[in-house]
Order: sequence, then C-alpha cells, then structure tokens
Amino acid sequence: MAKRELAGSRAILTGASSGIGVELARELARHGVRLVLAARRKEQLEQTAQEVAAAGSQAVAVMGDIADPDVRSRLVDTAQSTFGGLDLLINNAGMGLFGPFANSDPARLRQIMEVNFFAPVELIRIALPVLRNGRKPMIVNVSSVLGHFAVPNKSEYSASKFALHGFSDALRMELMSDGIDVLLVSPSTTTTEFFDKAEPDANRRPQRGMSPTRVARKTVAAIRQGKHEVIFSLPGNLAVWGDRIAPSSMSRLLARFGD
Ligand SMILES: NC(=O)c1ccc[n+]([C@@H]2O[C@H](COP(=O)([O-])OP(=O)(O)OC[C@H]3O[C@@H](n4cnc5c(N)ncnc54)[C@H](OP(=O)(O)O)[C@@H]3O)[C@@H](O)[C@H]2O)c1
Repeated sequence: MAKRELAGSRAILTGASSGIGVELARELARHGVRLVLAARRKEQLEQTAQEVAAAGSQAVAVMGDIADPDVRSRLVDTAQSTFGGLDLLINNAGMGLFGPFANSDPARLRQIMEVNFFAPVELIRIALPVLRNGRKPMIVNVSSVLGHFAVPNKSEYSASKFALHGFSDALRMELMSDGIDVLLVSPSTTTTEFFDKAEPDANRRPQRGMSPTRVARKTVAAIRQGKHEVIFSLPGNLAVWGDRIAPSSMSRLLARFGD
C-alpha cells in the first residue's frame, strides 16, 4: 500500500528536457502530479510540458541554468504562484565530464560541482520553507551508484555524487522530526544522452544500460512507498555492497576493469 498518494501533488522536477527527467515527468503525470519543469533547452522542455498536459495533468516550463540562483528562485516562486505550494522537490538535473584528473582543469571541477551539488543543495535551501507547508513533503535527489563507489576517470563526477549522498543522509536525519522525507536515488548506467556529453570518446560510451523508463517507474514507486534510498540494477547493488565489504579488493578490480 502506498504511503504517499500522489494525485494532485505539486512538484518541481529539474532536468526535464531529456533522459530520466522526461520519463519521470511522464510517470508523475500518470499519477496526477502537477509539475514545474526545469532545464535549459526550450523546445525539449515545452515538449515535456505538452506530454504532461496530454496525460491529463498540468505543467509549467521554467527555462534556465540550474546553477543560476535567479532560475532556482523562479522555480520555487512558480510552484507557489501556479499551484499554491510545493510537495515534492526532485533534483534530477546533472552532468558529467569524464577523463583523467591529471588532464583536467579547475573549470571542469567547478562546473560539475555547481550543477550536481551546489545547485540542488541551494534549491533545497530556498524550497524548504515552502515544502514545510506541503502535503507529505519529500525531497528526491538523483545521485548515482558512483555516489557510493568510485571508478577511474570520473573523479569529479564521483565527488559530486558522493557529496550529494552525504548531504542527503544528513538532511534526512535533520528533517525527520519535521515530517519531510529525503530519498536518494542511485541509478546505474542508463541509456540516455548523458554519455554523449560526458564521454568525449564515442568508442568509450556504454552500449547498454537500464532504460530511463524503468528508472523513472522505480523512482516514482520509491516516492510513493516513502523509501529513503534506492539503488538500481543487480550489478549496481553488487558493486555498492562489494565496495562496502571489501573496499581494497574492489579498488584493485575497478582500477583494472572499472573505467
Ligand atoms: N545516464 C546514466 O547512466 C546515469 C547514471 C547514474 C545517474 N545519472 C544521473 O541521472 C540524472 C539525469 O541524467 P540523464 O541520464 O537523464 O541525462 P541527460 O539525458 O543528459 O539529462 C540531463 C538533464 O539535466 C539537465 N541539465 C544539465 N545541466 C543543466 C544545467 N546546468 N541547468 C539546467 N538543467 C541542466 C539537462 O537539460 P538541458 O541540457 O536542457 O539544460 C537534462 O534535462 C543526472 O543527475 C545524472 O547524473 C545518470
């Protein structure tokens, strides 16, 4: 039985122009969630908004870079002015830029941390006062299995997702007595356009992975059930637990095969 009834809920969903975000919008719309959608690409975002409307729910598109404080303020303001409040904040927008740390520059680290860590955390900060008045409020942070264990050539990305993981665990405890849930979502490799941008070498992009539809369905199920954490895929779970139980062996294994 669902702990959280989603029909009529009001949500902010970032990264709604492609991949997991589009599928989350579709799945949430199916459950009657009203959405404030965020991303930079206008056409794609408006397409998602139209699909939500076609599914019988409501969506407002807010275009802009999530690393911009004004864009984040607009998201919260829009939830209040359009839907009268906020019940769900889903921090899904994210990016990767892969390659050896020794060949990278400070700008790469800054950009990844801005989008994957500072933006969701600062969005949470300004959304919290509104969420406190929400119906069964929940914060959902889309991290990665690489926020549980690291692999070579994704050091900045792993660092950003480890940071989001640690932050989410602490926040969950802080907000428990306020009745605000915090869910950490950790997908494994998922077949989206993520790697087209993250991996400069086309030959190194993964050919297989989970479908974003499946990730979205399981995420929405976890939201409804009030879960604290969800790690997708058997290999993802095995790697997370292997790293917890035998970190040195896993490091040696991942140094050879993890890239
Ligand atoms: N695909 C995977 O294998 C995988 C695995 C584990 C975790 N994840 C995580 O899942 C989440 C969704 O990724 P995805 O696979 O769906 O990738 P995706 O298809 O590339 O989608 C990323 C989304 O984030 C948005 N975004 C990126 N940078 C932004 C910025 N600066 N401002 C506003 N929006 C921004 C993009 O929109 P615009 O470009 O239009 O702005 C897009 O909607 C990310 O947090 C990612 O780290 C993905």
